[in-house]
Amino acid sequence: MAVVVSSNGNGPAFEAKMTVYVFVCVMIAAVGGLIFGYDIGISGGVTAMDDFLKKFFPSVWERKQHAHENNYCKYNNQYLQLFTSSLYLAALVGSFLASAVCSKLGRKPTMQFASVFFLIGVGLAAGAVNIVMLIIGRIMLGLGVGFGNQAVPLFLSEIAPAQLRGGLNIVFQLMVTIGILIANLVNYFTATVHPNGWRMALGGAGIPAVILLFGSLIICETPTSLIERNKNEEGKETLRKIRGVEDINEEYESIVHACEIASQVKDPYRKLLKPASRPPLIIGMLLQFFQQFSGINAIMFYAPVLFQTVGFKSDGALLSAVITGSINVLSTFVGIYLVDRTGRRFLLLQSSVHMLICQLVIGIVLAKDLGTTSTLGKAQAMVVVVFVCLYVMGFAWSWGPLGWLIPSETFPLETRSAGFAVAVSCNMLFTFVIAQAFLSMLCGMRSGIFFFFSAWIIVMGLFAVFFIPETKGVAIDDVRERVWKPHWFWKRYMLAEDDHQDVEKRTE
Ligand code: BGC
Repeated sequence: MAVVVSSNGNGPAFEAKMTVYVFVCVMIAAVGGLIFGYDIGISGGVTAMDDFLKKFFPSVWERKQHAHENNYCKYNNQYLQLFTSSLYLAALVGSFLASAVCSKLGRKPTMQFASVFFLIGVGLAAGAVNIVMLIIGRIMLGLGVGFGNQAVPLFLSEIAPAQLRGGLNIVFQLMVTIGILIANLVNYFTATVHPNGWRMALGGAGIPAVILLFGSLIICETPTSLIERNKNEEGKETLRKIRGVEDINEEYESIVHACEIASQVKDPYRKLLKPASRPPLIIGMLLQFFQQFSGINAIMFYAPVLFQTVGFKSDGALLSAVITGSINVLSTFVGIYLVDRTGRRFLLLQSSVHMLICQLVIGIVLAKDLGTTSTLGKAQAMVVVVFVCLYVMGFAWSWGPLGWLIPSETFPLETRSAGFAVAVSCNMLFTFVIAQAFLSMLCGMRSGIFFFFSAWIIVMGLFAVFFIPETKGVAIDDVRERVWKPHWFWKRYMLAEDDHQDVEKRTE
């Protein structure tokens, strides 16, 4: 299938085929997203399993036996939270290391490192005989997530024919949601296996990790990464192979040109501190903050716990999580379909209102009907489940995928990898904060936690209205001219840079 590819309409047109080889590479790399999603989804189910609690967190298990004493606090335990959140802290550190490995050694070895970390982590966590082993296992998994989440989206963007880049970027988020769904299913079935169901659940991540390990041996390195590291001939050959056409000279020259400009920037992190980098940097960081403070992972990690809290039995809880997982996957397709049609802003604004209503309804039902010791009536519990599902739907077609897409398309090439690493690590930082604090917040604030998230959703909606410009259809290297310079607020940083350059010229 030959298609003429242009980098978004205004850029140069390069001829390319969507080759089977590219398809295979994309699928293998995206397995990294699958493992990330699996890790997000599995924690909530495992921490609701009695065998697991009895072995590692006996005091939590004790408290759970007297669940009627306090609905909101039965799972509150710092160590239990550390089990979930240690992964994200390690991933935060991991993404900075990974960004260096990515530029020095390439995307492919970074993915190989990720799979090795994943395998060690799975072995330690699934085979854990004490809590230290368990936590070290989680830390290794976290390093895998940091390496994988840095390398995979960059790899996908660089290997894709340009006109498919947006859609392929969201394949990463799609795989994340599939990973979460698989984890929910695994939780559901392993919960009935005693006493080692939790080992099977944690061990399940080993399968995609092995696929990633062997898969990353057969995928190619990206042409950009090869040329960036002065392997121009190899880069050219690879480009010819993945594009499936003979004449790749124009695209090759454009990559060489981009690499030359980028190589003049010795320290991309310093460049990130310059005023002109501020718009994509601030937006990239705040997107992660809002993504997490909208409360998504409170729901993702603890959906099973949450459903038990509102009075479902263990099985019903996991089944409900399977339902939210499927809705998450299906709604991501809506995002893939709409993102280049309605644009980013429409999705962000629509979903802010949508998610706000959901959080408020959940909060109000719980505040009215769930005392600390009673259980919810059937009708009220149904309302909570329905609004949790609607909430996940809104997130999945907007702030979920756009949290990864926007930072990948708003930095210029010279700061793209570093800027993206900052965004990934902010995502991990805020995911960590929510994972670590959620159960204590639930215990302390009770249903008020949903009003807390609601307040942040209002702030995030206003931020989107005033500060997130539309990037739909704008060529990736035209963002400065067409997006930041005309923007009512961000233009001040662009003017500051122009003045600065003028001054530099005058003093030369
Ligand atoms: C977020 C994750 C979240 C997932 C839910 C991702 O975009 O970064 O934190 O759990 O979406 O689908």
